[in-house]
Amino acid sequence: MSERVIPLVDQRHPSLPLPAAEHSHDLSSLSLDGLRRPLTDLRISVTDRCNFRCSYCMPKEVFDKDYAYLPHSQLLSFEEITRIASVFVGRGVRKIRLTGGEPLLRKNIEILIEQLAALRTPDGQPLDLTLTTNGSLLARKAQSLKDAGLQRVTVSLDGLDDAVFRQMNDVDFPVADVLAGIEAARAAGLGPIKVNMVVKRGTNEHEILPMARHFRGTGIVLRFIEYMDVGATNGWCMDEVLPSAEVIRLLQTELPLVQLDPSVPGETAERWGYANAQGEYDPTLGEVGVISSVTQAFCGDCNRARLSTEGRLYLCLFASQGYDLRQLLRDPTQSDTTLAATVDAIWRGRTDQYSRLRSLRGPDTTSGPGRRVEMSYIGG
Ligand code: GTP
Ligand code: 5AD
Ligand code: SF4
Ligand code: SF4
Repeated sequence: MSERVIPLVDQRHPSLPLPAAEHSHDLSSLSLDGLRRPLTDLRISVTDRCNFRCSYCMPKEVFDKDYAYLPHSQLLSFEEITRIASVFVGRGVRKIRLTGGEPLLRKNIEILIEQLAALRTPDGQPLDLTLTTNGSLLARKAQSLKDAGLQRVTVSLDGLDDAVFRQMNDVDFPVADVLAGIEAARAAGLGPIKVNMVVKRGTNEHEILPMARHFRGTGIVLRFIEYMDVGATNGWCMDEVLPSAEVIRLLQTELPLVQLDPSVPGETAERWGYANAQGEYDPTLGEVGVISSVTQAFCGDCNRARLSTEGRLYLCLFASQGYDLRQLLRDPTQSDTTLAATVDAIWRGRTDQYSRLRSLRGPDTTSGPGRRVEMSYIGG
């Protein structure tokens, strides 16, 4: 098969120049960026492919049979991913999330998970190792993922109604198979399980209450995500965003909620617990979350870095350019210490806060400027 390297929609803009890593670079303290945010969360995209075509992420018209995905030679190998991940762990990373595209499409992903599960923080702790999946292959793979050392999974699911779900994944995939995947994950002990639902006004808002009823009291945390202006292909407009405040108001009409404190600093979701008859949080009923990247940006303590499938480091979900770490990984003269110094220098120079700046511009109806990379390329 011939390898096409010039994609129709070129997400792979030239990479940013790497900062010079000097021998004397001080690695004694943890990395803080230009807005004093620590680096604690690394999201690694292991494939730019997906078997779904959610219109908000990989619309069919763009990601069609002619779309040029990355050729295999361009992908980081498992050894390269593990090496760079261990460098990030040395710089402060405590949570690693595997994403895609659909990460379970990457062949032998269990081998990568085994390698990552063996990493330890400088004080000897295992990482929070998790994965975001559309659930389509989960029924088949949950047990082997658990056996490899994965701790938990987050499953994307945009509705319970089969017709709505098939329309949103746009490949006619049945909802029952994803529910079976979630069940398999639970049986394998891949918890706490989270379910992420992207809410699009006019498309699946009527699925909010059925989803809440379905997952309430199951121990599974359902989170509602505002439809974001990520990437450059989904034709985003503000009219299709249902603000989280409206989601909470709708839920409260039937299922009383009380707001909960964040569980960790820099959390994406605002947490709400189901209340009992006395109006107090009832842990047996569990909680829901809302992720309000459009109406209430959470850039202030954003601790996330993203590594693309081909080894570029992106400092923001809305970035248009990344830093080519693969070049360093494939250069035999570069040591882990130089890699660590480079990562540190890149992170220290970071000032990204795209969502916050966009919302400061006011409740406009357009997304911000720039040719941003696709979420399927750098991961959600
Ligand atoms: P947990 O550790 O399980 O709470 O994961 P998480 O919420 O950090 O990650 P997850 O991938 O579940 O995030 C859920 C959704 O939030 C993503 O699919 C994105 O839509 C959105 N999201 C995550 N990180 C960011 C971010 O840094 N910026 C913005 N704007 N949105 C984000
Ligand atoms: N808006 C919000 N979330 C999105 N995702 C992908 N595209 C978007 C978007 N435009 C997130 C969803 C999905 C995960 C893989 O990526 O949470 O579950
Ligand atoms: Fe695939 Fe997830 Fe994107 Fe949907 S949102 S197309 S399941 S990567
Ligand atoms: Fe972080 Fe960028 Fe998302 Fe803000 S928009 S929270 S800086 S990834």
